[in-house]
Amino acid sequence: MAKKKSVLDLMKMKKAGEKVAWITAYDYPTAMFAEAAGMDMLLVGDSLGMVTLGYSGTIPVTMEDCISHCQAVRRGAPKTWIIGDMPFGSYQTSDEDAVKNAVRFLKEADTDCIKLEGGVRVQSRIRAITDAGIPVIGHIGLTPQSSGQLGGFKAQGRTVENARGVIEDALAVQEAGAFALLVEAVPPEVTGFITKKLDIPVYSIGAGDCDGQLLISSDMVGKFQAFTPKFVKKYANVAEAETNAYKEYIKDVKEGVFPSDEYVYHITDPEEEFEKLFNEFK
Ligand code: KIV
Repeated sequence: MAKKKSVLDLMKMKKAGEKVAWITAYDYPTAMFAEAAGMDMLLVGDSLGMVTLGYSGTIPVTMEDCISHCQAVRRGAPKTWIIGDMPFGSYQTSDEDAVKNAVRFLKEADTDCIKLEGGVRVQSRIRAITDAGIPVIGHIGLTPQSSGQLGGFKAQGRTVENARGVIEDALAVQEAGAFALLVEAVPPEVTGFITKKLDIPVYSIGAGDCDGQLLISSDMVGKFQAFTPKFVKKYANVAEAETNAYKEYIKDVKEGVFPSDEYVYHITDPEEEFEKLFNEFK
């Protein structure tokens, strides 16, 4: 099995033009399958609120939710670079709170770094966390935690004025000391410019070609049904396969086809002995 990536490996991959492939993971089996497949990194995103807990957004997600899911992912992928996602409320209040909560990810869940949303407005948070020795990935463009302010889950950087803000955010993230940047739902032209301009690796989720790609695992395997963003390529239809399996099982149970002989345990003492036992209780 390949050894766990480091910040230096990610930088070398950028220089060599080698793309980084990563997905989100929220549980032990997904983490295990992703590591076995050779995934470069895993993000335990606060999208877990929508795709595994059934909330309509990410705002209700707590530090406890994130830590617990990060722990499960670490158990499933002990050799993979894991990113803990700072949930809403864990870094907005102060630099001190941001550092305290970032520390929790490393100490309690053994993640390798943290991700937080925002550029210019969270520069001091990124600086405080990196000053504490914790690697940070910035996240700009469409930032789901502030979708209310953005007017919904809308692509960013499509006009010159809006793209200026995205570029300023990218520069702020690098200047604050982040080791990488994630750009979400931004046109490839803008992402391409940022990727050339920055020294740190730039990754995309719905933002075109750059140093690597992220997708939400539940979207790409067809598990999350509520909506599918335009940028998602579906590699499987797990929802269909799983629903069909449940339908078949219900039918088997109702028709008495399951459990057949191969799915039961057999007695090891003679049948007559069991007859005697049953008679005792008659
Ligand atoms: O929580 C998450 O999965 C994310 C992605 C949308 C980038 O932050």
